[in-house]
Parts: sequence; C-alpha cells; structure tokens
Amino acid sequence: MDLALDGRVALITGASRGIGKGIAQALAREGCKLVICARGGAGLAETAGALRASGAAVRDVACDVTEPDAPQRLVDAAVAAYGRLDILVNNVGGNNRTPFAEQSDAEWQEVIDLNLLAGVRMTRAALPHLAAGDTVVGTNTAAGDDAAANGGAVVFVSSIWGRELGGPAVYVSTKAAMIGLAGSLARDLAPLGVRVNSVAPGSIRFPGGSWDRRVQADPDGMAEFVSQEIPGGRFGTVAEVADVVAFLVSPRASWVNGTCIPVDGCQSRSLI
Ligand SMILES: NC(=O)c1ccc[n+]([C@@H]2O[C@H](COP(=O)([O-])OP(=O)(O)OC[C@H]3O[C@@H](n4cnc5c(N)ncnc54)[C@H](OP(=O)(O)O)[C@@H]3O)[C@@H](O)[C@H]2O)c1
Repeated sequence: MDLALDGRVALITGASRGIGKGIAQALAREGCKLVICARGGAGLAETAGALRASGAAVRDVACDVTEPDAPQRLVDAAVAAYGRLDILVNNVGGNNRTPFAEQSDAEWQEVIDLNLLAGVRMTRAALPHLAAGDTVVGTNTAAGDDAAANGGAVVFVSSIWGRELGGPAVYVSTKAAMIGLAGSLARDLAPLGVRVNSVAPGSIRFPGGSWDRRVQADPDGMAEFVSQEIPGGRFGTVAEVADVVAFLVSPRASWVNGTCIPVDGCQSRSLI
C-alpha cells in the first residue's frame, strides 16, 4: 500500500535511538522530510547521518523537550528547513522506578514534564502549521465520499501501561493521561483537519534499550517473563511499532481519529 506520505514534513521527538529512530526510518522510507531531536548530540548526529546516507532530508536539533522553549525551536526548525509541518510524533517518554512511598514531588514532576507536558507544548507549537496544510475536510457528496486527504496528523507514543495496570504509578498515570489527551485533542482538532491518535507498545526490545538491558542482566528471568506475559513468545520490535505509526500519520488512516492502537502481540489484557 502506498501511504501517500511522499514530501510530507514530520517532526519526531526522541529519535536518536529506539522507537523514535525506528519511526524516523519508517517515515524516511515513505519519502517524508524529517526533523528529529534528542538531548545527546552525538547519538543524534549519528542517526541523522545514517538517515541522510539513505537519501532522506533530515534536520537534527539537539535539545531537551522539557525545556519550555524547545517545542517552538523544533517547530521553527521544520518550517525554516522545509516551509511547512504536517506530522508530529510525540515519542519522548520515560519512567521513574523509585518506590511510590519514597518518590518526591520533584520526581513526579519530572516524569509529568517528560511524558505529558512536552507533548502538550509540542502539539500547541505545531498546531498552526498542522492545521494549515492542504487539508480537505471530508464531505459526503452526491458523487460519493470525499475523504479527508491531507490534513495534519499527531501521534502520541503511550504504552500498554496507559491502558491497564502494570508498571510504576507515575508511568501508568502519565501514559494514561497521554491517551486521554490524544483522544480529547482529536475531537477538538477534527474541524481543523488535524487527526490525533496514540499507540500503546508492549515490551519492545532493541539493542541497548531497557528490555535488552534486562535480558542481559537476567536472561532466565526475562525468558520466564516472555513466556508468561507475551502470548507471541517474543519481544516486539521497533519496526513493528514504527509501521503502525507510519500508517496512522498517513492519509490512508484518514478516518482513524482519537483512538489508541496497542502494538503488543496481545501482551495487554485490557478490554478497551
Ligand atoms: N521500549 C519499550 O518497550 C516501550 C514500551 C512502551 C512504550 N514505550 C515508549 O516509547 C517511547 C520511546 O521508548 P524507547 O524505549 O525507544 O526510549 P529510549 O530508548 O529511552 O529513547 C528515548 C529517545 O528520546 C530521547 N530523549 C529522552 N529524553 C529526552 C528529552 N528530555 N528531550 C529530548 N529527547 C529525549 C533519547 O535521546 P537522549 O537520551 O540523547 O535525549 C532517545 O533518542 C517512550 O515514550 C516510551 O515510554 C517504550
């Protein structure tokens, strides 16, 4: 299926490694022009260089998305480089594993800033451009349905722990809030031709990632975890998440709005 993304401009937060990097690779393969960010300049430059070597147009901006001015800087970088912005992927996220009883307000605030507020600010900064694209808001005509072809699209990368219990409270709370935020924004922004969805990955393993580190530290325990918790009998891959995101931000998903799609090989048990 041609996702009809050629020439679209996409901004992906936290894209120097892991899921964000996979999303950048998937969108580059579809012909998108990219802006990517991360705090660590060296890893980011390496990823940007590899993407450029594959033929993609990439602007890399080293920044911490929790800094209040970073979202506007990123959006400005997209518009300066390409004159437009069509797609935003709010991928940055993290956790805090201090036991709840010992967790400080500052530790909670740090995760809220990273998982939730950064996405709020990013989406607000991007909105004027996402809503200014060559949007065709759908109409039902005598000749047939005229689907929303090319509006802006936002995806939040949440987690299965945003849909059901599991993991530390601060992670569950902020990941659930992201799903609520995405659904709520979908209703608010639909009249502007901007779609907003979220994805909920299960346990995704990639070299150097958190699950990979746990497997290295405790191979038997992790083998047991996989056999108990993941019916497919393996971890998910970055590419499996990235392909769903690429579909969601494409015009092929024009009537998919306000939803959260688990990408977890049936790891989660939520009924919703
Ligand atoms: N991996 C999984 O199994 C899994 C499962 C469910 C959901 N998720 C979610 O998927 C998303 C990506 O996960 P991942 O495992 O790929 O994460 P990761 O390996 O920790 O990578 C995160 C990326 O974001 C960047 N980053 C982190 N903090 C940042 C900040 N404040 N400002 C700018 N960039 C920042 C990192 O680079 P720097 O460190 O250089 O900044 C890196 O490029 C997260 O939202 C995570 O919660 C992951």
